[in-house]
Amino acid sequence: DTKVTKVEEGRLEATVFDEATALLRGGQIVAFPTETVYGLGAWAMSEEGITRIYEAKGRPADNPLIVHIWPGATLEGLISEIPACAEALMERFWPGPLTLIFPKGPLISKAITGGLDTVAIRMPSHPVAKALLEACRLPVVAPSANTSGRPSPTTAQHVKEDMAGRIPLILDGGPCAIGLESTVLDVTSDKPMILRPGAVTREMLQQVIGDVRMDPGIALKSSAVPKAPGMKYKHYAPKGELILLEGPLERVRAMMEEKVAESIGKGYKTGLLITAEMQAQYFQGHIPAAVQVEILGSRKQPDQIAANLFRALRRFDEGGCQAIYGEALPRDGVGEAIMNRLCKAAAGRILHVDTATGKDEEE
Ligand code: TXA
Ligand code: MG
Repeated sequence: DTKVTKVEEGRLEATVFDEATALLRGGQIVAFPTETVYGLGAWAMSEEGITRIYEAKGRPADNPLIVHIWPGATLEGLISEIPACAEALMERFWPGPLTLIFPKGPLISKAITGGLDTVAIRMPSHPVAKALLEACRLPVVAPSANTSGRPSPTTAQHVKEDMAGRIPLILDGGPCAIGLESTVLDVTSDKPMILRPGAVTREMLQQVIGDVRMDPGIALKSSAVPKAPGMKYKHYAPKGELILLEGPLERVRAMMEEKVAESIGKGYKTGLLITAEMQAQYFQGHIPAAVQVEILGSRKQPDQIAANLFRALRRFDEGGCQAIYGEALPRDGVGEAIMNRLCKAAAGRILHVDTATGKDEEE
């Protein structure tokens, strides 16, 4: 049976984490909140714990884990070298939603790195994650606490949906503020490269260290293999088929109405993933009652859209949606990470509705 323990931010003394610490030391898994998404934690030095993580998630063994540390923890043994640009990044963005890839140290097993010679390290800023790590004083490997292939969990309830009966303890610290997994940045080569976009954006990184590249392998149509093994798997996917509509909003609206009508006509349970501004536009404010509507938030507040995205995708599953139509979003700032997750959820299905060509082209 899985126990859920509420952890209040005002009450984070070490004894609150006694049970979690004992479980981690014993090679068991503890789910905990971070500022990005909930993680499935195991002691990084416990072979048993690591095996249990891969089992609980149903995760491919070549997909490496991120090691989580606390402010003041030593990196000695975890990594073998601190590349020049990493110092400034750690100073500016740790603790926070930035994962750095280093050459691995002798304490890191190949079970953690999926056989690679590099290791991912992250120092979360969420008060509960920080207090847990400080209390147990163990480096903790933690993938997102979802079943492999499902949207990442942003509440303890989501973790329970996927992990009930599979893990002994979930620490409930409320909803995650950011809602998208951390930015993963490889600093092992001269030219730092983003392997997974997140809330720490390319522009933010460039302000600190200059030029930062984006892994060409994560682009939709790319034939290159992504450098982060996790990015090559189908991911974040709702059970229904999601199609994104991209283009001038008035054209998107018209096409959306056409697609929804068609889908309902075929007898599909249909979903709409839209922004607040557009809600009153569709069907002149009268969206057919049979349609499940999920509002991501305002286009003026992309952070809010990020925070709501995975919950919305999970709700379409609960509603049993078979066909889902969603608005594409601007790709600047955190929009890059939002669109990265949305495109994966849509398995690359984007319908471009472009007035210039007058043609609709499916990717
Ligand atoms: O925000 C987050 O990072 C969350 C919370 C729980 O901290 N964790 C998370 O872990 O998203 P996970 O396992 O779901 O995703 C880790 C990503 C995967 O895409 C994995 O392939 C990549 O990081 N990764 C880990 N180690 C790597 C390495 N040595 N080289 C390249 N990519 C690596
Ligand atoms: Mg994940």
